Amino acid sequence: MPTLSPSTSLHQLRQAVASSSALPDLSGVHYAYSHAAYEAASDQRASLQTWLPRELPPLLGAGPLRVIGVGVGDGSVDAPLAAALATNHRQVEYVGIEPHAASAAGFEARLGSLDTGCLTVTTVAGAFDDYEPAGSADLVHFVHSLYYMDDLGATLDHALAMLHPGGLLVSATAPKEPLCVLTELLSPCVGHRLWCAEDVTEELAARRLEVRSETMLAGLDLGDVLTAPHGTDEPVLDFLVGARTATMTAEVREQLMVYLTEAAVFGNPGVVPHPIEITIARVP
Ligand SMILES: C[S@@+](CC[C@H](N)C(=O)[O-])C[C@H]1O[C@@H](n2cnc3c(N)ncnc32)[C@H](O)[C@@H]1O
Repeated sequence: MPTLSPSTSLHQLRQAVASSSALPDLSGVHYAYSHAAYEAASDQRASLQTWLPRELPPLLGAGPLRVIGVGVGDGSVDAPLAAALATNHRQVEYVGIEPHAASAAGFEARLGSLDTGCLTVTTVAGAFDDYEPAGSADLVHFVHSLYYMDDLGATLDHALAMLHPGGLLVSATAPKEPLCVLTELLSPCVGHRLWCAEDVTEELAARRLEVRSETMLAGLDLGDVLTAPHGTDEPVLDFLVGARTATMTAEVREQLMVYLTEAAVFGNPGVVPHPIEITIARVP
């Protein structure tokens, strides 16, 4: 493969995409399936499953809690957090909002199977925009879900309005580069700008909130993506770009592979950086 700087290879990829047809959407089922394959190829989820239960409980005091998770998927990230919060006889009311019905059912089953008498779980199988909580919350979190919201500012305001004074809004969102830029370029399904960590930080700064941010480093193992078009790791590539890649033209695929090769971790050509920025804002 030729060696280019990532900005040059991204420019060439943009040119190839501009002269090709849009890729097909990920259906709801393939979205969940390819998401699972993608997370399995990365060490990011394991880090989040450790980080959130370790870092958030000390910020939330010792009393009963009301938590709202937005876009919880199958609850893989929420379960360890819920278990860590519902300890020492603390009552925790945990609401999971998830529009994809099968994922919502997975969330309900996973959190329902936690062995604690202190946890009450409510699953809302719908979109966050339509949700009105019964009472104010201590924590509202978005783990990899803010990308998809139609209006980022309105979504953050909706979440902030649910929090009582001292409550936390937590966003775990990828920065634009090196990978979100590919979804923005190739996914047909978002329908608006893909909101990334930089956008979240900007919106929260504009609201003059006390904010703490931390970037967690991780790596995504591309498996056979670079060498085998339509190989066993095609779902990883599908989720990475937010589209079915089977019909991608040879030219776009070639430029995409050049970009991924250029983005790879130094000394580990099959792995690309997969960082996530965790932002915690406290309501005054
Ligand atoms: C990348 S997944 C993350 C799932 C989970 N938080 C995790 O990290 O495993 C994004 C999730 O956001 C959900 N989602 C998309 N639009 C949403 C909306 N308007 N309201 C709530 N959730 C939404 C999707 O259905 C999907 O399950």
